[in-house]
Amino acid sequence: MPTLDARLEAALHLIRADVHADIGSDHAALPVELVRRGHARRAVVVELTPGPLAVARGAVARAGLTDRIDVRAGDGFAPLAPGEADSASMTGMGARTILGILARAGETAPHALVLQPNDAPGLLRAWALAHGHHLVAERLAAGFWTYPVLRFERCPGPDPAYAGLSRAAAVKYGPHLLRAADPLLLAQVRADVARLTPLARPGRPAQDELVAAHDALEWCSNHRQ
Ligand SMILES: C[S@@+](CC[C@H](N)C(=O)[O-])C[C@H]1O[C@@H](n2cnc3c(N)ncnc32)[C@H](O)[C@@H]1O
Repeated sequence: MPTLDARLEAALHLIRADVHADIGSDHAALPVELVRRGHARRAVVVELTPGPLAVARGAVARAGLTDRIDVRAGDGFAPLAPGEADSASMTGMGARTILGILARAGETAPHALVLQPNDAPGLLRAWALAHGHHLVAERLAAGFWTYPVLRFERCPGPDPAYAGLSRAAAVKYGPHLLRAADPLLLAQVRADVARLTPLARPGRPAQDELVAAHDALEWCSNHRQ
């Protein structure tokens, strides 16, 4: 049985769906395991690039799941009918690529999104705050880098995850990760403090980033259990 790496395993544990769409799937390892392990009844794989599309088709066929996983060529959510999937994932891409796909999706994006950007998760948290999605869970997975994995759900009203936290620190580092004082997160914040301290001066962007890093450390040390 193929195994998932830590970031895809973390994503799998944040997904429970009737029909799940994996956008930019490449090897299709995540949707194959989602269906195999009962986290999704059916899946739709979307791939833009011919090579990875062929790899995905082969993986689904080898898994014997062609009746439960549909592999489609296309850009983002375009190959999906509105309402067809109740959840979707985008993993292993840059945050700006993910934001571009979300912007083109508009209202066709499903209610639940599990996103694993390779960089800048704060851009996705800020997008969610501006677009009526709550951040309901997040994890960090160890790997070549430390990978954030975020689950958003479309919900009305302010996101309660941010209550009582410094907004800048929580958007950058993650409200749930801060509350959990996740050890991988603390290592990232301390590295940011070391990197930013020599760069920070009033009026420079590094100054605001350093304030957010100190706020994050302070919150974690004040709330350590
Ligand atoms: C780095 S791979 C990640 C594969 C897999 N999701 C993972 O996490 O291991 C990114 C994949 O996304 C695909 N991709 C990029 N932009 C896309 C888009 N707009 N729509 C569909 N697929 C896209 C690329 O062709 C590539 O196969």
